[in-house]
Order: sequence, then C-alpha cells, then structure tokens
Amino acid sequence: MDAREQLLILRRNWRLITVLALLGTLVAGVASLLTPTSYTASTSLFVSTQNSETSAELQQGSVFALARVQSYVDVTSKPTVLQPVIDKLHLGMTPEALAAKIKVSTARNTVIIDIEARDGSAQRSADIANAVAASLVTAVADLERPTNGTPTPIRLSPVDYASSPTEPSNPNVKLDLALGLLYGLAAGIGAAVLRHVLDRNIRTESDLRKMTDLPLLAGITEQASGRLSGAAPFVLAGTGAEAFRKLRTNLQFAGVNRPMRSIVVTSASAGEGKSTVALNLALTVAKGGQKVILVDADLRLPSVAAATGIEGGIGLTTVLVGSSSLEDSIQYWSDDGLAVLASGPLPPNPSELLGSAAMSRLLEELQMTFDLIIVDAPPILPVTDASVLTRSTDSVLLVVGTKRVSQHSLAKAIDQLNFVDASILGVVQNRIPRRGPDANTAYVAGYGVPRPEAIPPARGGDGPGRPSHVRRGEVVSVEI
Ligand SMILES: Nc1ncnc2c1ncn2[C@@H]1O[C@H](COP(=O)(O)OP(=O)(O)OP(=O)(O)O)[C@@H](O)[C@H]1O
Ligand SMILES: [Mg+2]
Repeated sequence: MDAREQLLILRRNWRLITVLALLGTLVAGVASLLTPTSYTASTSLFVSTQNSETSAELQQGSVFALARVQSYVDVTSKPTVLQPVIDKLHLGMTPEALAAKIKVSTARNTVIIDIEARDGSAQRSADIANAVAASLVTAVADLERPTNGTPTPIRLSPVDYASSPTEPSNPNVKLDLALGLLYGLAAGIGAAVLRHVLDRNIRTESDLRKMTDLPLLAGITEQASGRLSGAAPFVLAGTGAEAFRKLRTNLQFAGVNRPMRSIVVTSASAGEGKSTVALNLALTVAKGGQKVILVDADLRLPSVAAATGIEGGIGLTTVLVGSSSLEDSIQYWSDDGLAVLASGPLPPNPSELLGSAAMSRLLEELQMTFDLIIVDAPPILPVTDASVLTRSTDSVLLVVGTKRVSQHSLAKAIDQLNFVDASILGVVQNRIPRRGPDANTAYVAGYGVPRPEAIPPARGGDGPGRPSHVRRGEVVSVEI
C-alpha cells in the first residue's frame, strides 16, 4: 500500500474516522466525569548507614543500604508498617485496603524510597503518606536492631514531607480526553483499512487498470439524473456528451484492424449503465453523420423504448418470430434520425431467440442498411444472452459501473467473453463520481469542455440531459 493509496483510504473514510474519534473522546469524557475524584500525596526516605567513619566503612555501608532498600519497599505494604498508620489516623480499614491506597517504589541503584498515598481527601492523602513513612522508619529500626544491644546500623531519613495536594490526581480530564481521541482515531483508521481490504469493488481507474489491460475507451461521470431511483437510461449533456464523442473517436481507433460493424454493449452485472452507454453512443454516432441503429436485445429487462418513448410492443422479437417486417419495426428517434429497434414483447426463451439463425440473418440484413449496429444486451454473469450475441456480432464494449461491480465479477465476465472468443474493443468506465476522493478530475472538466457549474441547470427537469419541458420518452435534442 503506497502513500497515495493510504491517503485515498483516509479521504474515502474521513467521516467514519471523525465519528469514531469523536465517539472515543465522548466515551473518555463521560468515563472521566464518572471517575471519583482522588488526590495523591508523596514523600520519600533516604536509606543510609550510621557510624561509618573510614572510607572503607562508608563504601561497605552504601553497598549494605543498596542491598536492603528493596526489602524495605516490600516491608512497607505489610501490616507491621500499615497497622500503626491505621491506628494513628483512625482509618477504620484493613492493612490490605490501605496497601491498595499506597504505592512504594525505589529507582534502580538508588537508596531513596518513594511513598505515594491516594485518597478521596487531599489532607488525608498527605497524612497517610507521612504516617507510612514514619511507621516504616520505626519498623526498620526494630527489624534491623542488633541482638547485642548496639544501635541499629541503618538510618531512614525523610527527604521531604508530603503536603496536602491542591489539584486532584484523578480524573485527569485533559489526559483522558486526549487518550479517548487517540484511541478513537486509531479505531477509525483501523476500521477504514479493514473496509478498504474487504471492499473489492471497482472504484477508480487505477483499480480497473490493475486488473485488466483492455483499453479504457472512455470515462463517464455520474450525472445528476442518476439519483432518481429506477430512472431509465437518459441522454447525457456537458461532460457526459463529451465523453461519448471521445468514445466515438476511440472506437474508430480500436476498429482500425478489425471489423466493427456491430457492437454488443454489455457489462458483468446488472445496472452498470449498458443501456445508457448504448443509447448515448448510438446518438453520438448518428450526430456524426453515420447511419446507426440501436437494437434493444435485452429481452429480459428492456429499457430503450422507455428511454426514448418509442413504441415498445413491436421490435426485435416480433421480427424474429416473423410477425412484423424489419422495415416496419424500425422506428426513428431524435433530430438526427437515430434508428431504433425496440425489444418487442418479452419471450420465454430469450437466449434461444438471440442465438437463432433468424437473429444472425436479421443482423446481416441490418448491416446492409446501416454503417453501425449497436446492440444493448443483458449482463454477462447472470445470463448467457450477451455471450450468445457475440457469435453473430463483431465486437463487444464492456461497461464497468464505478462501485457497482466487484473485481472478481469483472474478471469472471472478461474470462467468459474470452472463452467465447469475443473481440472486446475496450472498457467504458461509467458513473465516475464528480466529487470526492474517487473523482477523476480529467473526466469532470476536460479541455474545451464547459465545467459542470458552467452548464445551466435544467430547472425542474430530470437532470442535465433532459430539459424541464421534455417528458421522458419525448425526443430530446441536446447540443452535442
Ligand atoms: N453516468 C450516469 N450517471 C447517472 N446515472 C446513470 C449513469 N449511467 C446510468 N445511470 C443510471 O443508472 C441506472 C441504470 O442504468 P442503465 O439502465 O443504463 O443500466 P443497465 O446496465 O442497462 O441496467 P440493466 O442491467 O438493468 O439493463 C439508470 O437509472 C440510469 O439512468
Ligand atoms: Mg439495460
């Protein structure tokens, strides 16, 4: 994972990270408020030996003190030291309970014993610390007293006395909030990385390039109309129209060395934008002056008739079963006279019909009249129709819906097309976000293309491609 990818993960998931960071801070804040206030007072004792007169005795004494100091630390939490403190301060608790309130330590290679006492009262915490120190001095004197009656060789002297603390040691609100924020951030980043690892959808052009070397013929940005749920394919304006002009040009290059009279437009899974691409490509080619026909061969979920408003009851299936002639079934749509063959009534056996000799004959017949046939097909993975169609057509255009197909599904679809020996012209990436971390600015505003904000909004209409006065199904004339 390189730095760019890491940054992309952060940008994609900034909301999740912010929410978890705030949540961590909030939880820490509440926990801090619920924590009972306590004060910590501390004192320290210095351990030395007495009666050392020569330097050799002094040296011996300091080694002796060092060797003893850890034992004194351990003794401090014993009843010998703590019971006198309880009695003196009338604490009314067991030595074990008092031991839990104190912390005794010594730094390595020093003869200083630090005693810390924690209590809900500031004054009492200081009293406990001082009383424990005094009790330890007495206890050590008793423990170390030689049996021959000579004075004890060890001396514990106070380095400082504990005084009543002015600030509580707990809760430390600032520290708690900072830790909560830190843990929240860490959890947010962890969740973002996990989400990234588990998300196998194609999101960016680089995701696409990582998994296939098929040429990327065009990138189509997300249009405002797409937010309408269940909306039919529609005519794209602005940068969308520019993308289709680019696609038209790139298809000419892609078709230099191979026949390209009929193109099946398909995708791995449903709803990636096949019909939108087929319709807009057909319209753009028609505007370029070529004779083009759009055939709705999606005999399971046809949408061309709904998108264009032509009669859907007559079309491909009626021609295939011989109940209407081809000439009578072709309808013309838009100012540029785009020829359209709707699906006709839905048959029970779409794959059979699309793979029939009648279908091959129909396509051959269309080739005699039209320069280009654009076939809107069903998706590849759920049904075999698209694969079947590749037998009677020249080439395939693969639409990839951004965030709508997994890398695995796309790979399987390409494998399927290769298996049936389809000639894949390339990929069209559809619904590229216009904003946000996954936006591809190259597609949002290209050279000579009005930027989105420069395109006058279609007030009250369904989006940029469908002006307000035009109802769905009417012939739409947009400036391409
Ligand atoms: N670039 C785009 N911007 C916004 N909306 C889009 C875009 N492309 C397609 N859509 C919308 O997405 C939906 C699905 O598009 P479309 O019908 O073209 O997909 P499809 O692949 O043909 O679906 P199906 O598998 O059902 O045939 C439609 O509502 C369409 O308007
Ligand atoms: Mg469709």
